[in-house]
Amino acid sequence: MSPPPPATPPAARPYRGAVVIGGTHGLGRALALGARERGLLTVAYGRTAASLDDTEDLLPRFLDLCDPHSVRTASVDVPRPCYVLWVAGAFLKKPLVETTEYEVEQLTRLLFTGPVLFLRRLLAGAEGPVHLITIASSSSWKRREQESLYCGLKAAQATFVRNLVPEMIAAHPENRVTLVNPGGLAVPDFHTGLALDFGAMMDPGRVAEIVWDIATAQRQAFTEVQILRSRAPGSEGTPEVSYGARAPQPPEEPAPTAAPHAPHH
Ligand SMILES: NC(=O)c1ccc[n+]([C@@H]2O[C@H](COP(=O)([O-])OP(=O)(O)OC[C@H]3O[C@@H](n4cnc5c(N)ncnc54)[C@H](OP(=O)(O)O)[C@@H]3O)[C@@H](O)[C@H]2O)c1
Repeated sequence: MSPPPPATPPAARPYRGAVVIGGTHGLGRALALGARERGLLTVAYGRTAASLDDTEDLLPRFLDLCDPHSVRTASVDVPRPCYVLWVAGAFLKKPLVETTEYEVEQLTRLLFTGPVLFLRRLLAGAEGPVHLITIASSSSWKRREQESLYCGLKAAQATFVRNLVPEMIAAHPENRVTLVNPGGLAVPDFHTGLALDFGAMMDPGRVAEIVWDIATAQRQAFTEVQILRSRAPGSEGTPEVSYGARAPQPPEEPAPTAAPHAPHH
């Protein structure tokens, strides 16, 4: 008897390619490798694209989202029709008054202006359908401290993408948009300098699989999904998927629930 055929990931038709903005490390790299597994010609953009491992069969492209010249001139000659994944990012935890003008400018370029301008070029060249997959963050709606710039830019990314949907549908009826808000990922490079328990955070490879499963099964024009880590004892860090947008949490710490009064005697 011949062995069973290897399990094939869901077909990615009608798409020929995938373009990962920030496909060189962390979640972006895991998403790029997932695209390859699905038979897509995969372009990985990033500043360190030249040092990608040849055996992974990704098409490396230099792009520095903080450099307006690079954003204007990096090649957008990509395999089409394609998935476009907006993943690139970096974290910043600092009170605003301690944040330098340079840091504000660079993070805004990296998380918002750079990808928006680059996306504008990628979408302008599209003939067939495009499926845009955006990695925002649960920080776009969660209460955080000393992260106002990061959270504000992630919320801008999410709102920008939701409002891009009508014009994308007008441009091509088969265009699709997936907005993903992940919680904490076990990517130590992203959280440089912070002492975190990475064992209780989500594995980027597992999250990438979930994102591809959702995107390849998506029929409607737009899907927003939260992929949050379980905090339940024994399954800390397991991804939990739920659909739809979340209302922003209020900025103040919730008041502690009053302890029950001791009975008077
Ligand atoms: N890690 C988390 O806990 C977490 C949680 C929720 C959401 N997210 C979001 O997930 C995304 C990926 O994060 P990650 O954890 O995978 O981080 P990561 O491992 O640090 O990867 C960041 C990616 O962004 C690219 N990038 C950084 N600066 C760039 C620049 N100037 N120009 C072009 N590309 C640049 C990097 O490529 P090069 O270094 O090659 O330039 C790399 O591929 C980010 O948008 C982040 O906000 C992360």
